[in-house]
Amino acid sequence: MKKTSNQMLIIFGASGDLTARKLIPAIYNLYKGNHLPDNFVVLGVSRSNMDSDEFRSRVVLESEFLKGKIGKEKKEFIQNFADKLFYEDLGTDYDTSYEKLANRIKQLDQEHGTAGNLIFYLSTPPSLYETIAKNLHEQGLTQENEGWKRIIVEKPFGYDLASAKELNHGLHTYFKEEQVYRIDHYLGKETVQNLLVTRFSNSIFEPLWNRRYIHHVEITNAETVGVEKRGGYYDKSGAFRDMFQSHLLQIVSLIVMEPPISADPEEIRDEKVKALKSIRLMKDEETIIKNTLRGQYVASNIKGEKVKGYREEEGVNPDSTTETFAAIKFFVDNWRWKDVPFYVRTGKAMPTKVTEVVIHFKAPHHEVFKSQDVYKKDNKLVIRIQPDEGILLKFGVKIPGLGFHVEQANMDFYYSDLDSAQVMDAYERLLLDAMQGDTTLYARADEVEAAWKFVDPILKCWENNPSVNTYGYAAGTWGPRNSDDLIEDSFGWRNPGDLLTDESGFCILC
Ligand code: BG6
Repeated sequence: MKKTSNQMLIIFGASGDLTARKLIPAIYNLYKGNHLPDNFVVLGVSRSNMDSDEFRSRVVLESEFLKGKIGKEKKEFIQNFADKLFYEDLGTDYDTSYEKLANRIKQLDQEHGTAGNLIFYLSTPPSLYETIAKNLHEQGLTQENEGWKRIIVEKPFGYDLASAKELNHGLHTYFKEEQVYRIDHYLGKETVQNLLVTRFSNSIFEPLWNRRYIHHVEITNAETVGVEKRGGYYDKSGAFRDMFQSHLLQIVSLIVMEPPISADPEEIRDEKVKALKSIRLMKDEETIIKNTLRGQYVASNIKGEKVKGYREEEGVNPDSTTETFAAIKFFVDNWRWKDVPFYVRTGKAMPTKVTEVVIHFKAPHHEVFKSQDVYKKDNKLVIRIQPDEGILLKFGVKIPGLGFHVEQANMDFYYSDLDSAQVMDAYERLLLDAMQGDTTLYARADEVEAAWKFVDPILKCWENNPSVNTYGYAAGTWGPRNSDDLIEDSFGWRNPGDLLTDESGFCILC
């Protein structure tokens, strides 16, 4: 097991939602699971006027996000956790002298024996990344002469290619790339990591993982919720920036990549970058319009309840054409994937929450049971990222009786059947990796830029071209009906249900 050195985690934006909702619960889980080092301190930093006790009450003792977890524990155990947390008020501006902050860090470091090892977690808008990095640097807090220094930054990493490059440049002015951890919480999901294991630890899949046997690859990411309280952010972002540029392209890179030389972080990241660079760029408008589709949910009734349309959501422009659904077809220009189409879609206000990858295999070259229609039911490998996590293989079997009637059978595996150690939540896993200096599941600068390079021309075309439509779809359905037209020569999207083996079809009314 890797060692976790004594250290201090300094969270910028500590009074924000992410800290209470995700970060502190993840640190609490690490505490409960005995993964924290002996000497460990969290210092929350932001612009709210509060002291350490108020911070502890807010994010631990009275936190609605920890209630379920700490309710059953002994008071002393919880207090011991809360006592690891401290707070420093930065005043009115993040761009200020960090001298007082530096003194507080020094004092806590000495009192708690954290060995000068510091992780700065920036849970702030990206526009503050460079400012914070500069001010830390001015106080000597980025230098590694006494203990290591790391910086974790949240998504979105940039708004387009130019701003992502600017952010990278800004961070690289004060930190070396090895010190920078760009978080993508999808990489913290066990099932996303399992894509690597499924491919590279089984000799039954890898020989088939190429253009000779794969007909097409399909990825669906669906959420039942709308934009909730994030209308202001989302309306400027849209589904393609919010989900595709980061999480879904990360999944694509794991499916597309070549086998890495070893499990070393840089070897894996090198292959992922190569994979992203090999996705064929769509440069002209005609190609983009033909191969992409935008949708937006409109009001509907789901299970007897009226559901708002996107334009009626708080913070959203009532004339907005921002997409809450995006679908795309693209190709990968390399030896392995030549001519294999990839179809990816993501959407909010859809029938079920699900993320899955479906590998559709080609029909056998010589069709012996031609009359049986079986070739229309391709072999599929369904890798379910969430929920009801698991893997499903669909293959043809003979129906007992006369003749050769073929039907599809399911072979399924469920993560919940494993009785091994408890599965870590994504933030928990990623935080522990950063604490141990493991960058494998963090995006590298060139990786993020390669993703933006593909996404950028599409977003520009959508923004600048009035003939790009945003199609409406009733909240609670599988997106605009014409998204099926994107998949030619096959059977449209697999519309999954709540469970791995469900196939719900286009629309369920209840
Ligand atoms: C976030 C997006 O990165 O991922 C959200 O900004 C989205 O819009 C969320 O809801 C989905 O995460 P998960 O883990 O629930 O699939």
